[in-house]
Amino acid sequence: MTTKGIILAGGSGTRLYPTTAVFSKQLQPVYDKPMIYYPLSTLMLGGIRDILIISTPEDTPNFSKLLGDGSHWGINLQYIVQHAPKGIAEAFIYGAEFIDGAQVCLILGDNLFYGKLDFFRNALQNNDGGTVFGYRVTNPESYGVVEFSSEGKVLSIDEKPSKPKSNYAIPGLYIFDSNVVDISKNIKPSQRGELEITEVQKAYLAQGKLRVELMGRGLAWLDTGTPENLLEAAEFIAAIEKRQGRKIACLEEVALGMNFISKDDYLKSVNALPNCSYRDYCLRIIDDF
Ligand code: DAU
Repeated sequence: MTTKGIILAGGSGTRLYPTTAVFSKQLQPVYDKPMIYYPLSTLMLGGIRDILIISTPEDTPNFSKLLGDGSHWGINLQYIVQHAPKGIAEAFIYGAEFIDGAQVCLILGDNLFYGKLDFFRNALQNNDGGTVFGYRVTNPESYGVVEFSSEGKVLSIDEKPSKPKSNYAIPGLYIFDSNVVDISKNIKPSQRGELEITEVQKAYLAQGKLRVELMGRGLAWLDTGTPENLLEAAEFIAAIEKRQGRKIACLEEVALGMNFISKDDYLKSVNALPNCSYRDYCLRIIDDF
């Protein structure tokens, strides 16, 4: 089954002001590359090659300048402007034409994952309706929260509950069938005036079509919501990269590893990069492929 991908990379970014006064959060660096490289690499590692990027009127041109049409990575990138940050579920309304009857995976542009992604590839294969993930955290009240039975059946979904029914937060990575477009068009804005992604999940739950897959302890889901979180994410990436001598979310490497591009295409696009340590890295690892 082919799946289309959407990266939602808009929002107001007020929590990181003044860092985000000129450029949006998802263009800020996480250690050695822009934040959006990480969610983009996650989609690519899931085998997704048709990807829509949704951002603000100001920043969409910047994303397009940074990432282009994706052909150098063997993927197809398209862009759409979200006129105002009226909710995560709006991604499916803006993306309706792009989705065009396919299964769709939405990732938030500020969500970073590191670890073995088999759980994600399996979920893409096995999704029937909607799939969300559960990740154990110490502060579930900051997120969408999923409660489930011992058999893994979803019992409830709540957005930032003051009294969470479980410790499992729902990361910003969602898989839905194409009905998500109609479902999103029919949900009502919340009190804060947004089309909440949790309302979409509840609609699937009401139809008995929502599954939760737990992300294990071996997987890192990193938050970038506050200056502290952003620094911690950068330190995490830096520590692993320095220890292993391998980069996380190097898109050229991911594209080659996924066979989206040939070795010749890889060398062509790497040689076109300016002289920098990122380029040196890309040239250094070529013999591993
Ligand atoms: O990170 C996972 C959490 O993301 C989930 O557990 C929650 O259920 C979900 O509501 C969301 O919570 P946040 O509080 O992180 O949502 P926030 O409003 O900060 O938006 C998340 C990202 O999506 C943020 O980088 C901005 C972007 N965004 C958000 C909205 C509402 C948009 O691009 N457009 C929007 O309209």
